[in-house]
Amino acid sequence: MLKALAALFLTLGLTGPAFAQYVDPAVTGAALADETPVDAETNIGDRAATGGAPTLEDILRRQQGLSVDDSDRRANTGFDSDVPASGVLGPSGTASDSDQWRALRFDTADVTTVNNGPAAKTLIQDGGMVWLEARDGPLPFWGAVILLGSLALLVIFYVLRGKMRMDHPPTGRRVERFKAIERFGHWLLATSFVVLGVTGLLSLFGRKVFIPIFGHDSFAAVAAASKWVHDNISWAFMLALVMIFFMWVLNNIPDKTDLKWLARGGGMFGGGHPPAKKFNAGQKLIFWAVIVFGGTISLSGLSLLFPFELNLFAKTFGFINDTGVLGWVGLPALPADLAPQEEMALAQIWHAAMALILTAIIFFHIYLGTVGMEGAFDAMGKGDVDEEWAREHHNLWLEKVRQETPEKITEGRA
Ligand code: HEM
Repeated sequence: MLKALAALFLTLGLTGPAFAQYVDPAVTGAALADETPVDAETNIGDRAATGGAPTLEDILRRQQGLSVDDSDRRANTGFDSDVPASGVLGPSGTASDSDQWRALRFDTADVTTVNNGPAAKTLIQDGGMVWLEARDGPLPFWGAVILLGSLALLVIFYVLRGKMRMDHPPTGRRVERFKAIERFGHWLLATSFVVLGVTGLLSLFGRKVFIPIFGHDSFAAVAAASKWVHDNISWAFMLALVMIFFMWVLNNIPDKTDLKWLARGGGMFGGGHPPAKKFNAGQKLIFWAVIVFGGTISLSGLSLLFPFELNLFAKTFGFINDTGVLGWVGLPALPADLAPQEEMALAQIWHAAMALILTAIIFFHIYLGTVGMEGAFDAMGKGDVDEEWAREHHNLWLEKVRQETPEKITEGRA
C-alpha cells in the first residue's frame, strides 16, 4: 500500500512540471496563440515573434519531453554559462528550501542584491498586475470620459448660452486688476500646465492612440522626448503654484458674499450680477481646486521623480485606518503595509487621476477666460479691465479700489 502511495506521489511529482508548463493559447495571447513558422532544419520557431521568449513550439516540445534548443537565451544571460550555478537559488541551483522561498515570496528573506536601490530587496510583490490592469483599463477609460464629457458640456453650454456679454457699453476707463508679477505667475502656471497635460496624456494614451496611427518607432522617440519635457517642466509648475498661492490666498478666503453668489448661480438666476469681491465664489473654487489638486499632483509627481524615496501611501493609509473613519461607514481597512513597488504604482495612478480631474476643471476655467465671457481675458492679458466690466462682475472690489487706491483707475485705452 505504502509503495503504491509512494508511486502515486512520484508520478504526480514528475508530471507536476508538465502541468505547470501547460499554456492555454487563449490565455497567453496572440504571440503564443499564433503558430510561429518553424525552421525545418533546426526545429526552432521564429523567436522574433515572441521577442526572444520561448515560442509555442519550444513549450510544446518541452511538454513532450523533447530537447529544446535554447542556446540563444542561455548565452544571453550576462553570465558565463560555463560557471556552475553554485550558491544560486533556483530549480537548477544548489539550495532550494521551501522556507527560503516563502520568505522571498513574502519579502522577509535576508537577501543581498547586486543593485542596492531601495526596492532591490523586494523580489516578489503582488501589486504589479493590479496596477497594470488599472493603468490600462479604468484609468484611461474614465480619463477619456471626464475630458471628452467636460468638453462636450462646454460646447453645449456655449451653443445654448453663447458668450456672456457686458450689460452696458465700456466706459473706456481702465482698472488695474493684476500686477506684472501676478500675470507672470499665472502664465507660468498655465503654460507649464498645458505642456504637462499634453505630455502626460501622451504617456497615458500614446500606446493606444499614437502607435496605431504613427507606429512604434515614432512613438518611441516621442515618448522619450515627452517624458524628458514632463519631468523638467514640472518644476516650473510647482514654482508657479507656490507663487499664485502666496499672491492670491488672502483674496480667496471664503466669506458670506460667496454664499449669496452661489445661491444665485453666479447670476444665472435672481436677475443681474450678484455682488463679488476681487474673486467671486466660482473663481475661489477654481483657486482652491488648483491649489489642492495641483498640490497633490506635485507631491505624487515628486514621489515618481525620485522613485522609492518619497513613499506616501502606506503611512497615509495607516493614518486613515487609525482614525477609524472607514469602520464607521462600513469600509474595510486600507493596506498599510505596501511594497516599494506598490507605493510607486499607487503614486502613478493617483497622479494621473488627479491630473485628469484638474484638467477637466481647467477646461471650464479656460472657457470662461476666453470665449465664454466678454472682457475677462484682458485681466490676465493686459493686466487691467474696463471699469464697467469691473462694476458688473466684481462691484465690491471696484468700490474698494475707488476708496483705497483710486490711482489704479486710469483714463485710457478701451
Ligand atoms: C491657458 C489658458 C488660460 C487662460 C486663457 C486663463 C485665463 C485667466 C483669466 C482671464 C483670469 C482672471 C480672471 C479675472 O480677472 O477675474 C485667470 C485667473 C486664474 N487662473 Fe487662469 N487661464 C488659463 C490657464 C490656467 C491654468 C492652466 C491654471 C491652473 C492650472 C489657471 C489658474 C488660474 C487661477 C487660480 C486664477 C485665479 C482665480 C480665477 O480667476 O479663477 N489658469 N485665468
